[in-house]
Amino acid sequence: PLPPAFEVPLPLPAVLKPVAPGRYEITQRVADVEILPGVRTPMWTYGGTFPGPTIESRRGQAITVTHRNELPVPTVVHLHGGRTPAESDGYPTDLVLPAGWSGGHGHAMPDPRAVQSRVTRTYTFPLDQRPAMLWYHDHRMDFTAPAIWRGLAGLHFVRDDAEEALGLPSGPRELPLMITDRAFAADGSLDYPSLDATLRERPGVRESFLGGVLGDVILVNGAPWPIHEADAARYRLRILNGSNARHYELEAVTDDGRRLPLVQVGADQGLLAAPVTHASLPIGPAERYDVVVDFASVPVGGRVRLLNRLGTGRTAEVMAFRIARPARDDSRVPAVLSQDLPSWDSPARVREFSFRAGPMPGGHGWLIDGRPFDPSRTDVTVGLGDVEVWRLVADVHHPIHLHLAGFRVLSRGGRPPLPHDAGLKDTVSLRPGEAAEIITRFDGYRGRYLFHCHNAEHEDMGMMANLEVR
Ligand code: C2O
Ligand code: CU
Repeated sequence: PLPPAFEVPLPLPAVLKPVAPGRYEITQRVADVEILPGVRTPMWTYGGTFPGPTIESRRGQAITVTHRNELPVPTVVHLHGGRTPAESDGYPTDLVLPAGWSGGHGHAMPDPRAVQSRVTRTYTFPLDQRPAMLWYHDHRMDFTAPAIWRGLAGLHFVRDDAEEALGLPSGPRELPLMITDRAFAADGSLDYPSLDATLRERPGVRESFLGGVLGDVILVNGAPWPIHEADAARYRLRILNGSNARHYELEAVTDDGRRLPLVQVGADQGLLAAPVTHASLPIGPAERYDVVVDFASVPVGGRVRLLNRLGTGRTAEVMAFRIARPARDDSRVPAVLSQDLPSWDSPARVREFSFRAGPMPGGHGWLIDGRPFDPSRTDVTVGLGDVEVWRLVADVHHPIHLHLAGFRVLSRGGRPPLPHDAGLKDTVSLRPGEAAEIITRFDGYRGRYLFHCHNAEHEDMGMMANLEVR
């Protein structure tokens, strides 16, 4: 039986303590996690919890994270939104092998260029990038969707002094919210329609799930429809849609039916130039929003529900805040948030990519320019430092993510971008039949990177391509 909405307290993921300055260790292991009250759910975890521990870091201060794989299958760690050298970016065949692993790669044959690490692997993150909420998750070729579903996801903040000096709500009034949907079997285990439940050999889901796997339970930070006791003050909500395939359109509604304005201060890749106010915010898989909501007008004892306009029944509810006490509020939302947003022009090239369903070996899949992902092929080569415009064309809804480089949305359907496209993004949610243009500069590092659909089932079913920065 599922719990009633708005009774389970909102958990806040623990912040990971370094083992030495700038050095972190995470053990990936199976753990029984209490997601539904009183029920044990076996999960694949970073460090025994879901979400995994949060990493707090500072702009320009490099860290290392050593992952130890005690799971029954190979894993790959990717820091989503990180500007990371290729050897630490978590290429899908760059596996951390569990002890005693002997083959069983399915058709995800190891790429000869990929480094195979036994049991542990140390990833280096320079974090020479704008402050933002990033997230880390599994990225193994063909098995990313079920691995994330089983629990391999955590948050990673990059911060700096300039952002902290703005006076945005902070401390207990800054809340990370990782929203994920999941389905549960009668015995409390996670329900996912894998063709191969061991996730060893055969990737994929049954044909009817090619559109992506949805759950009927909405979790925030791993708790079903939670509630958080809040002050009657401004809160800064750092929202991630960590769901495999579910899109949400979020709104904050009071008991008397008022919609509180969602004041967006940041996007995937950090602060906007200036705040943008929304009545509701669409969020596709892997997108993040940094939003300030003011509870000052809500009477003490009242509630504010975070709702999903795209849901029906219980998937239309996400979480709630109970306004527990009046409070003094020294926070503010400055009219100017940042002045370092890149504005590129004069692209060296314009390219177009299509994201469409189509035939692939073994059945139906999801293709970029008519081809499924192949780790042995280079799909695009760009020059380090080059500015390019990419035109992305979709058949159905596809949230498209680019590794390494943040981008700006230039247009959608030939029109100016939407209000929620503001700022620097790393994932753009293409609507059905839509073509969008993005502009970026391929800064940072040379090497092999990826772009792909972040509907995790689409990604596993081929919708990924190789980007070589030369
Ligand atoms: Cu969030 Cu290539 O991934
Ligand atoms: Cu897709």
